[in-house]
Amino acid sequence: MRDLRDFHTAMRLGVLVMFVGLLSACGNTTDEGQAATETYLIKFPHVTAPGTPKGRTAQRFKELTEARFPGRVAVEIYPSSQLMNDDDSLEALAFGEIQMIAVSLSKFDRLTQAFQIFDLPFLFPDLVTVEEFQASPAGQDLLNVITDKGFQGLAFWHNGMKQFSGPNPLRMPEDARGLKFRIMESDVLQAQVQAIGGNPQKMALGEVYQALQTGAIDAQENTWSNIYSSKFYEVQPYVMETNHGYIGYLVAVNPTFWQSLPDDIRSGVQEAVAEATAWGNAQAEAINQQARGHVEESGRSEIIELTDDELTSWRTAMAPVWEQFEANIGAERIEAASSL
Ligand code: SIN
Repeated sequence: MRDLRDFHTAMRLGVLVMFVGLLSACGNTTDEGQAATETYLIKFPHVTAPGTPKGRTAQRFKELTEARFPGRVAVEIYPSSQLMNDDDSLEALAFGEIQMIAVSLSKFDRLTQAFQIFDLPFLFPDLVTVEEFQASPAGQDLLNVITDKGFQGLAFWHNGMKQFSGPNPLRMPEDARGLKFRIMESDVLQAQVQAIGGNPQKMALGEVYQALQTGAIDAQENTWSNIYSSKFYEVQPYVMETNHGYIGYLVAVNPTFWQSLPDDIRSGVQEAVAEATAWGNAQAEAINQQARGHVEESGRSEIIELTDDELTSWRTAMAPVWEQFEANIGAERIEAASSL
C-alpha cells in the first residue's frame, strides 16, 4: 500500500510551514488590547458540478457554517475540479494546504483497504441500505481509519448508485468484452471490469468527457447526476440502468487543523456538517432521478433497462470480486453489510 506521505518532498513540507504561518497570521488583535480574534478559512475543493448531490451539500454546509460564525469562519467551495482533482486534493489535505474534502470512497484505495467494501459490486442495493451500514458501528468506525494518515472523517455523503454507459447496449456482461472502461482509482473497480472481460483505465473525472469523445476509452460507470452534469450522455449512446455499485464520499479534514480550532468553532462546524449531511443525503436519490430524466429527455443517449435475468448475469460475472477482496476488507465487515 502506498502512503501519501512517502512521496512528499522537503519542498512540500516548506509549503506546510508557510501554511501554518499564514493560518496564524489570519488572527488579528482588536483595538484597545482586546483579546485576539482568530478568523478561519476552510478551503473545500471538489470535482463535481454545483448541482450534484455533493455540490449542493457542500454549498449548504458553507451557508450553515458562515451563518453560525459570521466573520469568524469563511468556507470557500471550489466545484468542478476548478482548483484540483481528487488525487491532488488528498495530498493537499494531508499537508494542510486545504482544510476540507469530500472525495469518493473509491479514491482512498491507496490509503486504506477498509473502504473497498463500498466498491464491491451489487453489495448495496440502494442508498437506504448504504446509509444503514454507514450509521452502524462497523460503518462509523470507518470515519477514523485514516486519521493517522492525515484524514479525520466527519461524515459520509451520498452521490448515488452507478450505471454503465457505453458505445453499444450492454445487456449481458459478454457485451462488455474488450471495451476500455474508465474507472476511479480503485483496485476493486479494476477487478470488477476485468471480471466482465473489459479493460479498466484509472482516470480523473475531469478527463473522462474528452477521453470518451476521442475514443481513448469506450465506456464508463457513474451515477446519473455525474453522467448528466459531466455531459457523458452526449458522447455515450447507451446508458445501462444496472445500479451495480455506489458512489459516496468521505468528508474529511486535516486532524492537525481540526484540533487547532477553538472548541466552539470545532463543535459548531461539526454540527453544520451533520445538518448538511442529513439535508443532502435525504435528497441525493431525487437529484439522481432528476438527472436520469434530463438524460432521457435529451434524446442523446438511450437508457437500457435490464431484465432480472440479465441483471443476474452481471451479478454472477462479478461475484468473484467479493472473494478476491475479502481478506483486505474483512469477512465480518462484508457480512455486516450484506446482512442488512
Ligand atoms: C465524484 O463523484 O466525486 C467523482 C466520481 C468520479 O470520479 O467518477
